[in-house]
Parts: sequence; structure tokens; C-alpha cells
Amino acid sequence: MATITIDNQTYEFEERERLLQFCLDRGVDLPHFCYHPSMSAPANCRQCLVEVGMPQINRETGKPNVDEDGNTIVQFIPKLQTSCSMDISDGMVVKTHCSSEQVVRAQKDTLEFLLINHPLDCPICDQAGHCPLQNQAYKHGPEGSRFEFEKVHKPKHIDLGPNVVLDGERCINCTRCIRFTKEISKSNQLTIIERGVKNYPMTPPGVEFDEPYSMNVIDICPVGALTSRDARFQARVWEMSKTASVSTVGSKGSNCYYWVKDNQIMKVTPRTNMSVNEFWLADEERLDYARFNENRPAGPTVHGADVSWDMAWKAAADCLKGVDGSRALFLGSAFATVEDNYLLTKLAESVGASAPVYLPHRILGHGDDWLKTDDRAPNAEGCERLGMEHGVLGEIKGRINSGEIDLLYVMEDDPVGAGMCTVKELANLKVVLHYYNTTNETLAAADVALPAATAVETVGTFVNKDGHAQRLRPAKAIKGVNRTLSMEIGKCRADRHGTPFDRWYDEDNLVDCHPGWVSLPQIAAGIGLELSYKGPRAIMEELSTSSERLTGATYDAMGEFGVRLPQPAVAESDTTKTGFNA
Ligand code: SF4
Ligand code: FES
Repeated sequence: MATITIDNQTYEFEERERLLQFCLDRGVDLPHFCYHPSMSAPANCRQCLVEVGMPQINRETGKPNVDEDGNTIVQFIPKLQTSCSMDISDGMVVKTHCSSEQVVRAQKDTLEFLLINHPLDCPICDQAGHCPLQNQAYKHGPEGSRFEFEKVHKPKHIDLGPNVVLDGERCINCTRCIRFTKEISKSNQLTIIERGVKNYPMTPPGVEFDEPYSMNVIDICPVGALTSRDARFQARVWEMSKTASVSTVGSKGSNCYYWVKDNQIMKVTPRTNMSVNEFWLADEERLDYARFNENRPAGPTVHGADVSWDMAWKAAADCLKGVDGSRALFLGSAFATVEDNYLLTKLAESVGASAPVYLPHRILGHGDDWLKTDDRAPNAEGCERLGMEHGVLGEIKGRINSGEIDLLYVMEDDPVGAGMCTVKELANLKVVLHYYNTTNETLAAADVALPAATAVETVGTFVNKDGHAQRLRPAKAIKGVNRTLSMEIGKCRADRHGTPFDRWYDEDNLVDCHPGWVSLPQIAAGIGLELSYKGPRAIMEELSTSSERLTGATYDAMGEFGVRLPQPAVAESDTTKTGFNA
């Protein structure tokens, strides 16, 4: 097997790969700026320098020469090499800053050059606290600046497009942002202008940086030169908790982090999952978070009057008692989790109603072949795998207007807002609305309204359009302590004792709502149905063995990055389906 020696430690390898990535994968923390694993390596920052050598081969014997102690004599390349642009090869010997004074000196000098014209504005920079330049300056840089002249000034506060703001002085010209638009998104909307120390990234004349993936350059910029117009100056990184979860926009199931301060979502950034979204997130997936903070419901109501939760659950159960199952319609939701839809299915079954259907939320032509999808809801596939079918809006409307339905149970959707029917058309039905998110149009028709926790406030499972089941984790707390939820919430550096219960959120921002897996068993109990699961984990344990289409979808199997579920066999009758229609 081929071997490489790094700082006197020998590693085996099978395939050639870039030396920098090989080191990073094995915990050798080589400093770098311009390298990104998904893009070409221009080797322009010079921060990843290392000493590289090969065994000195005896031309006569073809074997490595050895010294008097029997050690292989290594011939090092006279100049330091950029590890990001060099492939590993058999017998290679590498010295990093851990074993070479020359490398330590080179990294320090490179940082000194990078910092010569860099503004000293870390105290007001959004990147401070998670800035590679700041971190590496602390770890590998000089202790102070010897530069006594005026720094080069460049344009600041430039709106490159609707979502990205440039501070030219902070840029270190790593070209990651340029390469992103050339090699990844292929919009070619950024280029470098000016020359030498004066250059910085810019859009070509007459072009706006408005591609649908523009905000990815903010994440890959290794300094604070590119900031989000939406999130800049809103919160420092140490004030926010960061929770790993899944995007709720579209059916791709992109992995993301929700950043929370004072129990409000402040921003959404990508989480690397090479099986789903790789390193990236669409702008629409980042910017659609205000609905988690604003216009949230203020507790349960019955006929518009505020009531306690116990009264609301009882009122919902009373609506279900004695209902003729054939005249009840249950609407599940592609916005709700697999667990909640499953419990709704059981509730519908217990009153003799047919299986819930879910409403389609598709905008034809909206998607691309990357992260944006026509389907605007995150869990239609999860609903399908539970055996639910998508409802046809016109057909449901017809059933309501012809008097076929007495009771409509709506879970986490807005049939009026979706155009299925009007409030007036719902007036003669008993409507139990277990709604989500913001106050919605269907609320006006609800006899009983039960605020539901959103996808950033619950534990649950979404299945993306490719059949990848992934876990949701709560990023925000809701009113009342729920241990299952609280234990999953990320911590921030300001949490005093390092536990999720120490969060320094504002009590005013706690929404009075419950996840479906809390509310539905309470309603079920009111009609004598026992849905006694020990939380959503137990529901998925059951489904992973009882449902062929969700086989293996346990929380343990899903872990951090989800699990690909077996593809369901396509029934012959399904092949004629053209998708959703209204
Ligand atoms: S703006 Fe950031 S990503 Fe772009 S070249 Fe400058 S430092 Fe690199
Ligand atoms: S990371 Fe290697 S030169 Fe920039």
C-alpha cells in the first residue's frame, strides 16, 4: 500500500488526492484561505505552505539511500510548496508547522502580508468570532503589526446585489467567491477588478449579483468582506445558538443551521451534507425565516375566545365525538412531520374516516436541477410514504359545497390561503384547525384553533423528494418546559452553565404552542383513543418496522445526516400520475 509521512507519522492511502485535504481529513490542522474542497485550487493565498520531500533514490540500485543510522535520506524541494495544489504520492515526506521552523516562519510572514492592509475592525465585523483570518492570526500570525504607513483604501458598503454587501478593504483576494460563480453556480456574476494591492471582487458593468444562490459566497468568504444584507449587524456569533436541522423551504431537504438569539431565528446557513446539498443553500432557503418569529399565534382558542390548553383539547375531542366518519375529512400536511401525520392518520382511523390527504404546494417551473424545487413543502414524500394522497383542491371544494362533509380537521396547513375554499364555504362545518406558523386565513373559520409548533420548534422527521429521511431538531424554545425539546436545542457561548436550560432568551418571545405529537394524543384521549408513545422517537421506531416505505428510519439511523430509504415500487397505476393538480 502507498504511504505518505506527515510530521514523522506514516499514513497509508489508496487514491491520489490533494495534500491539504488529506491532512485536514486526518486532523492535521493546516491553515489555509483560498482552498475549498469543491473548487479548483489557484493557490493564491500562500497560507498552506509546507515542506515536501521524496526519498533520495540510488540510481544504480533503484532503492532509497540511507544514512549511517539506516534512516532513508529525504530530498526536500528547495522552496516551500502549497499543499492545496499538490497531490500526494507514494513515499512523500511532509513537514507542516508542527515539525518545521521554516513553515512556521512562512505562515507567520504570509499572515503579516495579508494583514498589512486589512482594516482593524474586528469589533464591528460580523465575521468576528468565527473568522478564519482572525483565528489563524491568533494561532499562526505575528503578535503585532510593523506596518506604519497608511493602509490602502478600497470601496466599502457596496451592494453587489439584493442580498450581498461587499467591504472591499476586508477582502484578501482569495477568489473563492469568484470561483463559486464560475465553477459552482455558473452565473459568472463576479470577477476581480483593479490590479495588485488595489484589486477586489466586483460584478461586471451593468450586472447585478442576483443569482438565486448568491449568499453562499458569504459563507465561503474566509474574512468578513461579504456580508448578508439581511443579517448584518443583527447579532454577534457568540450571542447566538446554532442548531443543526433541515430546511423547511422546498422538498430538497437541504441541511442547515438555525441561528437563534433571544429565541428568535436570526439567520439560516448551510450545513454540509454531501448526500443532499453538499456545502450549499439557496437564497430562498436562507431568507424565509421571519414566519418563525412574526405573527405567531397567542394560544389556543375556541370560537375565537382564549381558553386553556385542556379546554381546547377537550373542545377538539368533542368535535370528533359522534361524528360520522364518512362525513369527516382530515387534512394532513406536507409541512408537518412524519410523526405528526402518522398520529393524525390514527386519529382519522379511530373515528372511521378515510386516510388523511395533504394539500399540494407546487409552483410549476420554480425549481431547478439543484436545490430549488417546484414543491414548496418539505415533507410531501413523507406523507406519501405514510400512504396519504395529495388532495385535489377543486374536488375537496366540491365535496364541501355539496354538503358531503360535516367536519374538517386541518393540520398545519391553510386551505383558505391555498385557494381550496373560502371562509364562507367552511361556515357550516365543524372546523378544527391545528394550524402552524403565522396566523392564517383559515383561522377565521375555525371552531377550535390549536397553535402548533413550527419545524424549528419540534423534534420530527422529514423525507425529502429523493427519499432521504432526516431529523428536525428544535432551534427555538416554546412556552412551558418540554424536556424532549429543550435537550435538543443548541447552546450558545452565552449559556451560563453550558446546558440548554440556561438559554438567555426573552420570555416575551416564547410562543404558546405545542407540537402535534403532544396535542394529538391529548385530543385522542378525549375520544378514548390511546396514542401513548414516549415521544416522536418511539413513533419512528414503530414506523421503521411496521411501514415498508419507512423501513430503517429510526432516529439512531438518521443521526446527523439522515438515511436514504428504500425506493418504493412504482405501481402500474402510479405511472400514469402526472403529479399534483389543483
Ligand atoms: S470577497 Fe472574500 S471570498 Fe471574495 S475574494 Fe475577497 S476574501 Fe475571497
Ligand atoms: S490554501 Fe493553499 S495557497 Fe491558499
